[in-house]
Amino acid sequence: MKSLITMESLRAWRKKLTGKVVFVPTMGALHHGHEALIARARRLAGPKGSVVVSIFLNPIQFGPREDIAAYPKPLKNDLLVCRRAGADAVFLPTVADMYGPDRSVFVDEESLSSVLCGRSRPGHFRGVCTVVAKLFNIVQPTHAIFGEKDWQQLAIIRRMVRDLNFPLEIVASPTVRESDGLAASSRNAYLTPEERALAPQIHAAMQAAATKLKDPVAIVKALVRAVEKIPKARLDYAEAVEAVTLDSLKNRKSEGRLAVAVFLGKARLIDNIPLPPLK
Ligand code: PAF
Repeated sequence: MKSLITMESLRAWRKKLTGKVVFVPTMGALHHGHEALIARARRLAGPKGSVVVSIFLNPIQFGPREDIAAYPKPLKNDLLVCRRAGADAVFLPTVADMYGPDRSVFVDEESLSSVLCGRSRPGHFRGVCTVVAKLFNIVQPTHAIFGEKDWQQLAIIRRMVRDLNFPLEIVASPTVRESDGLAASSRNAYLTPEERALAPQIHAAMQAAATKLKDPVAIVKALVRAVEKIPKARLDYAEAVEAVTLDSLKNRKSEGRLAVAVFLGKARLIDNIPLPPLK
C-alpha cells in the first residue's frame, strides 16, 4: 500500500492505472464502518482495479464553535485499517496543499443543504462539497463510496455529481452498527461509558417509532417523545424526509428516511433509517 502526500505523487500513481479506480474519502479516525467502505471498494475494484482512500481532516467543514483540534488523529491505526481492508493507496494531503491562503472558489449546494444538519451546522456542506469536488478532480476516480450513515451528505454529493457532471459513479454503503444498534461513528469516541450505554436508545427509539406507526408526523412525534426521555440527551432534530429531495415526507407513497441528530455529552450523534413506501 502506497502513502502519497503530494498531489504530484498521487497524480503520477493515478496516471498508470487502467481499471476501475474506487475512491473512499475520509477524515481519518477510521473505525469498522470505514473498514466496511474500503472492503466494499476493494470488491468493486476487483483484482484489476485500484482502491484509494484519502485521509484529510477538512478544516472548512467545521464551524467556529466545533472543536476540530479535538478530532482524533490516530494515523498509525488508520493506515493499518486501510491496509487490512485492501486499499492500494492512501492520499494524505496537507491543509496548505489543499487550501491556498487566497482561495476564493467554493462549491455550494443550495437546496438539500438547507435542512437537517445543514440548518444546525451552517457552512458545513459547503465545506464538504468543496473538498469532495477537489478530491474528485485530484483523484479522478471511476467510483466513489459514501456511507448511508451520513444520508444527507450522500444525497448532496449525488446532486453535486449530477449538477456539475463529474464523470464518476457514487456508490452508497449501508450503515454499520455496533451489536447494540448504535451507528459506528468516529464521534462515539467522545462518549463517556455512561453516555455510551445510553446511546443505543436513539436507534431503538427510531426503530420502535418506524415499526409501530405509519404516518410520518406520528412517527416523528413518537421519536421526539422517546429521545426526550433518554437521560442526558438533547434533541437537535428529528425529521421524516423524502429520501432523494430531503423535502418533508408528507405520506408513505415514496421512499422516505427518518433522520435524527442528538447531543449526548460532547458528542453530536446522527442516524437515519429507511421509511419505505407502504402499499
Ligand atoms: O464523511 C466524511 O468523513 C467527510 O465529510 C468527507 C466526505 C471525507 C469530506 O471531508
